[in-house]
Amino acid sequence: MELPPRLRQAVDEILRDTPIADIRKAAELLSQRYRSEVRDGRLHVSDRLAVTAYLATRLPATYATVRASLAAIAEIRPAWAPRSLLDAGGGPGSVLWAARDQWPSLEDATMLEASEVMSRVGVALARESGARTTWVAADIARAVPALERADLVTLSYVLGELVPTAIDPLIERLWELSADVLLVVEPGTPAGWQRILLVRDRLIALGALIIAPCPHAERCPLVAPDWCHFSRRVARSRRHRLAKDADIPWEDEKFIYLAVSRKPNDTAFARVLARPRAASGTVRLKLCSPTGQLEERLVTKRQGDDYKVARRVDWGDRL
Ligand SMILES: C[S@@+](CC[C@H](N)C(=O)[O-])C[C@H]1O[C@@H](n2cnc3c(N)ncnc32)[C@H](O)[C@@H]1O
Repeated sequence: MELPPRLRQAVDEILRDTPIADIRKAAELLSQRYRSEVRDGRLHVSDRLAVTAYLATRLPATYATVRASLAAIAEIRPAWAPRSLLDAGGGPGSVLWAARDQWPSLEDATMLEASEVMSRVGVALARESGARTTWVAADIARAVPALERADLVTLSYVLGELVPTAIDPLIERLWELSADVLLVVEPGTPAGWQRILLVRDRLIALGALIIAPCPHAERCPLVAPDWCHFSRRVARSRRHRLAKDADIPWEDEKFIYLAVSRKPNDTAFARVLARPRAASGTVRLKLCSPTGQLEERLVTKRQGDDYKVARRVDWGDRL
């Protein structure tokens, strides 16, 4: 997956005059902060160099995983065409761009962001997005301002930056503000999964209906050290490789998401929880079932059409 050309060009324009050595140093600091999961309420990205590091090394990945999460929603709700977006912790506008790509119907976006320097970059990039965007300076850990409800409300890669006590009130408020779908995306780490599980419990208690990825609203059947996550392959630009000191022209970005709605899913499905393992004449699938069970299913060539389907599905797909 790559950034849309207009976004890539706009990002290149912003990064053009920043020396790679500076971006590399800032990227190291940023990834250290993300890896150690510091949750002291301080913004991770609050200076110009950190923002350039985010654009060069994180935006392609968060765009790709949000885009995949939105595609999973669209698969379940093919006729849905949201017109308004409210994105909390909008950063450079990763969700805005991914949502416009998934739903060209999206006309209006409100972006809540606490970092002034991040907002400035987001505003500049959003000019190319084709949507009317309003950026609101807000500390969502304290309060979400009074706003109109939006068809789609999103919170992407933000929970890990908030003090834990801020999460429940924020989720409650975002659910109030969603006219239909609320999507939360997190890194696909065990800690990211745990945060999503807490959000899932809270949203179920508030009456939200899960539409993806879980095919049920029972307890998650996975038990640590296992954890639920998906993966997207992300192309690395030359600048991205230099900033990360990496040779490989791609990276596999793990992520976890939760989409809830005010409307239920119409169809039952199982979710593929790992890369299918194919051997001669067999495919082994790890599935989350509609009844909330974890299932290891062996599909053999003798099963005809089921086997053909099993050979086609991938990690994260519905079955
Ligand atoms: C990791 S970035 C994610 C950006 C974007 N959502 C994405 O998926 O790429 C987290 C963003 O949330 C913002 N943020 C963190 N804490 C916040 C708070 N308390 N209020 C508003 N924004 C916040 C940060 O400034 C940053 O732009």
